[in-house]
Amino acid sequence: MRILVTGGCGFIGSNFIRYMLKKYDDYRIINLDKLTYAGNLENLKEFHQTTEIEAAGYQFIRGDICDASLVDRILAGSASHGPDSSQVEAIINFAAESHVDRSIEGPAVFFKTNILGTQVLLDAARKHNVKRYIQVSTDEVYGSLGKKGYFTETTPLAPNSPYSASKAGADLLVRSYYQTFCTPVVITRCSNNYGPYQFPEKLIPLMITNALADSSLPVYGDGLYTRDWVHTEDHSRAIDAVLHQGKDGQVYNIGGNCERTNLEVINTILEYLDKPETLIKFVSDRPGHDRRYAVDSSKITRELGWVPRYEFEEGMKITIKWYLDNKEWWEKIKNGEYLAYYKKMYGNR
Ligand code: NAD
Ligand code: DAU
Repeated sequence: MRILVTGGCGFIGSNFIRYMLKKYDDYRIINLDKLTYAGNLENLKEFHQTTEIEAAGYQFIRGDICDASLVDRILAGSASHGPDSSQVEAIINFAAESHVDRSIEGPAVFFKTNILGTQVLLDAARKHNVKRYIQVSTDEVYGSLGKKGYFTETTPLAPNSPYSASKAGADLLVRSYYQTFCTPVVITRCSNNYGPYQFPEKLIPLMITNALADSSLPVYGDGLYTRDWVHTEDHSRAIDAVLHQGKDGQVYNIGGNCERTNLEVINTILEYLDKPETLIKFVSDRPGHDRRYAVDSSKITRELGWVPRYEFEEGMKITIKWYLDNKEWWEKIKNGEYLAYYKKMYGNR
């Protein structure tokens, strides 16, 4: 199978590519990534021997999903190599602006990449008769839960941040291509991921790397906001299942069945690293902050047999060890242009 993966140099996309190439010897993956601040060739270092074409089974193309002519050329070029084995059969769209705080600072790029980029990919999927288009979406499109209940696939969309609004907009666009053109689309909506190669602006890697440097840990509001954590390898396994067995036009929720408050997550990190709770610093809250996410994944379990394998405390232990063993990876990021971002976002909080 030949797959076009977009955003494969980010956190979840790179873990997915590694997972797939390890599992399927004969699969071919084209990774189209713009290399924004969040895209990092080092996330797939073992495949990027050179900046151009790499190991067998893998090809990297630097480019923007909004570039319709490039996307068209990728799909046409692949098709022209041969009738079936080299035709792109599936597009899996991970490419996105993904950080809520950045969407509050500057929403425009979120709508451009997350919505217009999706439209470009959908048009190309239609034109080239791609057999499966997967939109990697998020549980954040459902908005915020009260103390009880779970997001199901039929929960109404109620996004609260420019990021989640852009993802919800893309989901509606994807749905419309199924309804209008019968494009074979599937949408996945996963909860919060954690694991190796996550950009250190997100809660877990930010807290691990700050704690390792004995810097303060900025907790928004009262720290009792709840997220449902899933290890990124479990997310990869879910997308693999959807790729092969998912039904066209369907939405599949993916969750870890693992609700933790932010303070619980941070205390787990402090405990593992043997760092003091005095590092915690309560700072002003994120505007529009969603109080609670919790995902009902019973549909994907029932229909595709997927269940998360990682238990949170064990997954966190492995993840923290990865950040300990890969200091060079995150120190390079944290000492680069990320420093200016950190000052801007946290300086006056
Ligand atoms: P990330 O920010 O780590 O990576 C995004 C990748 O997309 C980067 O490599 C970046 O260079 C690339 N990209 C951005 N704009 C692009 C463009 N215009 N053209 C081509 N490439 C572009 O994000 P992530 O955390 O890996 O998330 C991946 C996807 O999964 C996103 O669609 C996100 O909405 C979704 N998601 C994330 C989570 C999570 O917890 N992180 C949970 C559910 C869903
Ligand atoms: O639910 C899936 C979503 O999870 C994905 O769609 C997003 O791409 C991903 O970024 C993530 O969104 P969150 O906003 O939940 O993740 P973030 O890591 O930014 O924040 C997690 C929680 O931690 C949230 O309640 C805000 C809080 N937080 C975050 C940061 C960065 C803090 O208290 N302090 C911080 O410095």
